[in-house]
Amino acid sequence: MTKPRILTGDTPTGRLHLGHWVGSLENRVRLQDEYDCYFLIANMHAFTTRAEKPDDIRRDTLEIVKDWIAVGIDPERSTLVLQTEIPAIAELTWYFAMLLPFNRVMRNPTLKAEIEAKDLGDHYSFGFPLYAVGQCADILAFRAELVPVGEDQEAHIEMCREVARRFNHVYCGVDSTTKDEDYVAKGGVFPVPKAKLGRIARLVGTDGKQKMSKSLNNAIFLSDETNEILKKCKKVVTGRQSATDPGVVEGNALFQYASAFMKDTARLAELEQLYKAGQIGDGAVKEEVGRAIDAFLAPIRDKRKSLDGKAGDERVVEILRDHIARANRVAEETLRMAKAAMKLDFGPRQLQ
Ligand code: TRP
Repeated sequence: MTKPRILTGDTPTGRLHLGHWVGSLENRVRLQDEYDCYFLIANMHAFTTRAEKPDDIRRDTLEIVKDWIAVGIDPERSTLVLQTEIPAIAELTWYFAMLLPFNRVMRNPTLKAEIEAKDLGDHYSFGFPLYAVGQCADILAFRAELVPVGEDQEAHIEMCREVARRFNHVYCGVDSTTKDEDYVAKGGVFPVPKAKLGRIARLVGTDGKQKMSKSLNNAIFLSDETNEILKKCKKVVTGRQSATDPGVVEGNALFQYASAFMKDTARLAELEQLYKAGQIGDGAVKEEVGRAIDAFLAPIRDKRKSLDGKAGDERVVEILRDHIARANRVAEETLRMAKAAMKLDFGPRQLQ
């Protein structure tokens, strides 16, 4: 029996942080045996906003893979997909771009939020909004059924679902009133994939307000050292005036971290009681939460150290290379099926 496939991934924009862990990484690590997993490094997407920084993108590509391996993504069980080595993805992007109205893409709320957050104004590249269509191709090239992502990616997955339905309807003759789970059984090429959200939809950053994000400077990275973690926790904004004020636990970044990373649940309940009663100061809670995060990250950090330096870089490149053929086997098969449905089966295709 073949396992259903997962595809998900990250754009290489820097090191991964705790928000990535609770949003998606944790699910990826956990689902590796149940699913045939494909984890994609969206290095082509990185060029949509940083085309003039190829060195940075290459560095960040290797960093992401190091973070992945450190948290427990296992290249023996899962396939790592380096986007720029999978030509079928770029080709499918073109075909899918013609199934989506231009304005539909531009209405995508995740794109809009990114334009705002990165202050792209109206000077973003032509390729920038195209990445959302490319993301549909990333997922559908592997005919994935499940996409573990953080909440911010939901709009992209919704667009991908629309593309899958539309392709199956237009080129495979599947009735457009078909239930999502039945498209393939009725002759469609693409399953209509589902997003799988993490256990915490949105991890707050150390500013206590906004989503944890590298660009907002409010992130605790998976590779942060003990003293950095404690320092960042000390700065977490809770809005509480004094140690004897009754504290508010709901919506408090510190307690969101505590419930996400403290193993000792009895102690967590006790801390919440003390805090609400004004019997413990922010400083003490910060220290304890910082220690809990550090205990969680220590083994990840250690594993990552084994991939440090030039030897680590070389090892990562070797792993990525090893996986290219595996990924292309699936993606090329998908492209063949899609082109046949589109009456484009003029092949045979010879890439080398
Ligand atoms: N856009 C995603 C991010 O920035 C990365 C990504 C690219 C992705 N292709 C994907 C995620 C396909 C899930 C599925 O985090």
